[in-house]
Amino acid sequence: MRNKVTVVGAGNVGANCAVRIADKELADVVLVDVVEGVPQGKGLDLLQSGPIQGYDVMVTGANDYEPTANSDIAIITAGFPRKPGMSRDDLLLANYDVVKTATEQVAKYSPNCIIIVVTNPLDAMAQAAYGVSKFSRNRVVGMAGVLDSARFRTFIAMELKVSVENVTAVVMGGHGDTMVPLVRLSGVSGIPLTELMDQATIDQIVTRTRNGGAEIVKYLKTGSAYYAPSAAAVEMAESILKDKKKVLPCAAYLEGEYGINGLFVGVPVKLGAMGIEKIYEISLTPEELALLKKSAAAVQELVDVLKKK
Ligand code: APR
Repeated sequence: MRNKVTVVGAGNVGANCAVRIADKELADVVLVDVVEGVPQGKGLDLLQSGPIQGYDVMVTGANDYEPTANSDIAIITAGFPRKPGMSRDDLLLANYDVVKTATEQVAKYSPNCIIIVVTNPLDAMAQAAYGVSKFSRNRVVGMAGVLDSARFRTFIAMELKVSVENVTAVVMGGHGDTMVPLVRLSGVSGIPLTELMDQATIDQIVTRTRNGGAEIVKYLKTGSAYYAPSAAAVEMAESILKDKKKVLPCAAYLEGEYGINGLFVGVPVKLGAMGIEKIYEISLTPEELALLKKSAAAVQELVDVLKKK
C-alpha cells in the first residue's frame, strides 16, 4: 500500500511540497486549501505530470479534510504572509487560527499521523499544533533547522567553492533572528570551519544565514521563500516515511532538554517511522547555551501571547 501525505495549504510552499513528494514518488498527496478550485486544479495539474516525470502517485485537491483520512503525515503550510501594517503579533494570532483549524481537522481524520509544521512563526505554530492535536511529542515536529542549516551550508560551500554535499552545519534555536548557527560544530568533510575561514568571513556567513529568509523576501517583495522550505519539509517527511532515521535540526517540544521546559525550539533530532525518535542533547559551551536560551525566550514571548487567547 502506498503512503499518504496531506499538505494543508496549496500556496507556494504547499504546492512545492506536493511536487517534490510526487517527483520522489514518496506518497499519494492530498492538497487542502480554503480557496475553492485551487487545490483541485493544482492537484490535477500535478497528476498529469506523472506520465512525463514517471511517477505513479495519486495527487488530489480538496477544500475539506474528508479525502485526507488516514494520512501518514500532514504537512501544515497554510497561513498568511505578513502584510503592511500588520504587527508580528497580528500575524501570530491570524496564523494561530489557521493552524488550529487545520490541526483539529488533521487530528480528526488522521489520528495516527505525524504532523510537520511549516507555517510561521514556526516554533509558536508547532506549539499550537502540539497543544491542539494532543498528540505525543514525537508526532509533532517543526520545519526550520533543516532550512536554516541548508542556507548556512550553501553560503559555506559558495565561499569555499566546495560541494554542498560535503558541508555539514548545525543551526539550533528558534526560526528567527535569534537562531543559533553553531560554527564549532559545522565544517567540511570533518574539517572544522575555523580551519577553513577567518573569523570575519565566518561572522559574515552567520549573519547572512540569520537573515536568509528576509534576503529572499526583499527580492520577491510579495512573498517569502518556498523552494528551499518545501525541500526541507519533504526531506523530513522522507526520513519518516522511509524510516531513514536522519539526524536533522528540527523544532521539537522540549521537556527539560537544554534546561528548556514546555517549549518548541530547534534542536538535533532523529526522524524515523515514529517521528521524533530521539532528541540529541549535545554539550554546548556557556556562550552557545546562552544564545540558545535567548532564542528560546523569544519563542516563549510568542507562545505567551497565544496563551492569552
Ligand atoms: N486552511 C487551508 N488553507 C489555508 C487557510 C486555512 N484555514 N488559510 C489560508 N490558507 C492557504 C491560502 O489560501 C494559501 O493558498 O494557505 C496558502 C498559503 O500559501 P502562500 O500565501 O503562497 O504562502 P506560502 O509561501 O506557501 O507560505 C506558507 O509557510 O514558510 C511559511 O512563512 C510561510 O507561514 C507561511 C507558510
